[in-house]
Amino acid sequence: MAAALAAVGAIVGGLVVGGFIDVAPERVSRTIGEASIGGPFELVDGSGGPVADADFRGKAMLIYFGFTFCPDVCPTELSAMADALDLLPAEIADRVQPIFITIDPERDTPAVVGEYAAAFHPRLVGLTGSPEQVKTAARAYRVYYAKQEPETPGAPYLMAHSSFVYLMDADGRFARHFSAGTPPADMAAAIEEVVAGD
Ligand code: NI
Repeated sequence: MAAALAAVGAIVGGLVVGGFIDVAPERVSRTIGEASIGGPFELVDGSGGPVADADFRGKAMLIYFGFTFCPDVCPTELSAMADALDLLPAEIADRVQPIFITIDPERDTPAVVGEYAAAFHPRLVGLTGSPEQVKTAARAYRVYYAKQEPETPGAPYLMAHSSFVYLMDADGRFARHFSAGTPPADMAAAIEEVVAGD
């Protein structure tokens, strides 16, 4: 696992866009594979209460890892998830739990992630945790992240991170991933296919 993360990190190191880094999706999917994406996590929700991945069994999980200070990719992807949910028939959408997990627990407290998530969609759950808890969750989903020290001392730091949306089935197994920029209609169609077959 450490070797795989290091490999992804090496790729990410070359992609700096306006001071913000995001991973080229196709390169990552070749690097990490999909079979073993997902696994147990224990995190904290917006009210400060403990949440485990098993709490969501019975629903498909639509999961995105990011951070609330993200200037561009995270808001775009969370909006796409929200739009996809709203495009789905209610009986399908009800069987999907959208989840935002921060990879910046230092700034993203329970209250911060909770409010941030709710601003995108009333059903979007925002999760944070201790640095160790976040690391465990991110590793399970093969999510790369790293703090970027600001060029200007005292300026807010950014986080480099991979930016897939993961769809896990009702049993918590990996079903699909969506690269950043996937149109909400495409996401909704794939979600419906998986959920309807569950
Ligand atoms: Ni981001």
